[in-house]
Amino acid sequence: MADVGQEEDFEAARGKALAVGAKKFYLQDLKREFITELIYPAMQANCIYENVYLLGTSLARPVIARGMIEVADTEGCDYVSHGCTGKGNDQVRFELAFYGLRPDIKVIAPWRIPEFYDRFPGRQALLAYAAEKQIPVQQTAAKPWSTDENLFHISYEAGILENPNVTPPGDMWKLTSALDAAPSEPERLSIEFKAGLPVKVITEDQKTFTDPVDIFLGLNALARKHGVGRIDIVENRFIGVKSRGCYESPGATILRAAHMDIEGLTLDRNVRALRDQFITIELGRILYNGTFFSPEREFITSAIPASQRTVNGVVRLKLYRGNVVVEGRYSDEGLYDEAQSSMDELGGFEPTDTTGFIQIQSIRIKKWAQSNIRKGQG
Ligand code: ARG
Ligand code: SIN
Repeated sequence: MADVGQEEDFEAARGKALAVGAKKFYLQDLKREFITELIYPAMQANCIYENVYLLGTSLARPVIARGMIEVADTEGCDYVSHGCTGKGNDQVRFELAFYGLRPDIKVIAPWRIPEFYDRFPGRQALLAYAAEKQIPVQQTAAKPWSTDENLFHISYEAGILENPNVTPPGDMWKLTSALDAAPSEPERLSIEFKAGLPVKVITEDQKTFTDPVDIFLGLNALARKHGVGRIDIVENRFIGVKSRGCYESPGATILRAAHMDIEGLTLDRNVRALRDQFITIELGRILYNGTFFSPEREFITSAIPASQRTVNGVVRLKLYRGNVVVEGRYSDEGLYDEAQSSMDELGGFEPTDTTGFIQIQSIRIKKWAQSNIRKGQG
């Protein structure tokens, strides 16, 4: 079992595993590597899937898979197994990660074995079996959510959510408070970035977090209180099926807003555009489609530090009823020049220079407009 920061009773899990027939139980704390090796590069690149989903499940899969391979090596196992369905993304992510780490490993995927899926066509059948055999599970027929939790997020799929027009019930959400239950007073914090990574969070009540795990847990607690980070999306899975998913990514939502903001002040325009076009899109795809242990991922992530060298500074934020509001930011990087940007002074700028700049830019625009007018389409 991997501890990737999910709120879970690990002792109960150990007991359950041994009770249903496991010979040995391993619990691995993977929180730190999850943050530093997976979450951080994705946040530096502002990765997002289909403009909405922050990739919380995808991000944890590589570290979990690596943990499993470590145990398989320790125990001399030829096989590993996972409980992902044959319709989803996770099967692809886990298995490509296994093969990317240990090419000779063999995989048992019960949901894709005919003897299994003939007997258990879906989640309801499996729930009935668990009840019959007195195997404790959290899911119920009314709340059969397929969930996946870690310190970055939780996901909910299946059950009534499969109708995309059904509003998620209020009691489904676990990691964030409802907007009407959130405090009526805003709360402020600041986040300091070095090379695009959060290195210090200071809260309104003067708590300071500097360790990556503390930063994440601290931001989660604040976001949870203020109802920040709920997502509801119909997304396209890798295999081509559309799927409705609900997510809570509390701390990550704050971090993303702050990181994108400090980049505005500190990142060169062209570096930003190149990064957005190539790294943001490509790393998002790599994470979602499950090729973290691959040559393309090594290549793409090697470019991230170069893009983030100047991303240093502090963002001041306010949390209020589901909103993350940036209130100000500062940096010593010096790419922003108040005099140069000012509307009150020239600051070394020659206004006449831009006359020619605009004239040259307009050459082809004018030609296009003339052509439209000639053809009567103007
Ligand atoms: N649709 C999301 C993704 O592919 C979430 C998957 C959730 N997985 C799960 N086993 N419940 O990343
Ligand atoms: C599953 O199908 O096992 C979970 C959802 C997914 O992998 O996309």
